[in-house]
Amino acid sequence: MVSIKSEREIKQMQEAGKLLAACHRELRKLIEPGITTWEIDQFVERYLTEHGAIAEQKGYQGYQYATCASINDEICHGFPRKKPLKSGDIVTIDMVVNLDGGLADSAWTYAVGNISPETQRLLDVTKQSLYIGIDKAWPGNRIGDIGHAIQSYVEAQGFSVVRDFTGHGIGSTIHEEPQIPHFGTPGKGLRLKEGMVITIEPMVNEGTWFSRMDSNGWTARTADGKLSAQFEHTVVITGDGPLIITEQ
Ligand code: MF3
Ligand code: CO
Repeated sequence: MVSIKSEREIKQMQEAGKLLAACHRELRKLIEPGITTWEIDQFVERYLTEHGAIAEQKGYQGYQYATCASINDEICHGFPRKKPLKSGDIVTIDMVVNLDGGLADSAWTYAVGNISPETQRLLDVTKQSLYIGIDKAWPGNRIGDIGHAIQSYVEAQGFSVVRDFTGHGIGSTIHEEPQIPHFGTPGKGLRLKEGMVITIEPMVNEGTWFSRMDSNGWTARTADGKLSAQFEHTVVITGDGPLIITEQ
């Protein structure tokens, strides 16, 4: 069942989104060569707690951390760890904030120190693909319209879109129906309606979209070892078009 949120629920999710965006803005200042994803995770958990919120990912289906921290060839669900980041790395920090029952979800890929022009292009294309997808999130459009727009743009740029993980509805829990693939056929799939809240979170790979799962059962990485980036926003479908509630 795809839920339609009340005005009050959306207000609460917007508050969570504001806090989440503020936390990402702090990370932008914090992330530099030498820091570990363990320290980033601790910072996020403390920041959210100090602002009266809960790091919703911690404990979700047995996941043990406040953030997912996916480095270089890791696509998603990387575990925070005590290995220092180095200049030239990229790291995706994904978090879900619960503020008084309202949830918001947003991931951002950060450059550590100086990255190569080709890596910068991967980040630019991935972020642009998110906004191209969001542009299609109007009532009356279909889920396939979002995926198709993202996929065509990304592939025209010579990169690939991950198939094994999708965006999703979000509400009182992190993952609700419907799934939002970042590839697809225009005019296909569920029709979007006012009051739905979804995440759009394209994971874009330099090389193949094929992934493999680490032995920890969570972390997915690219099958060819090349880089993967991700940008994610939580978006409300409104009569005036997509409303991004996690914008920094
Ligand atoms: N934020 C992730 C998403 O975008 C959810 C990760 S689930 C967790 O779907 F358990 F790893 F936290
Ligand atoms: Co997320």
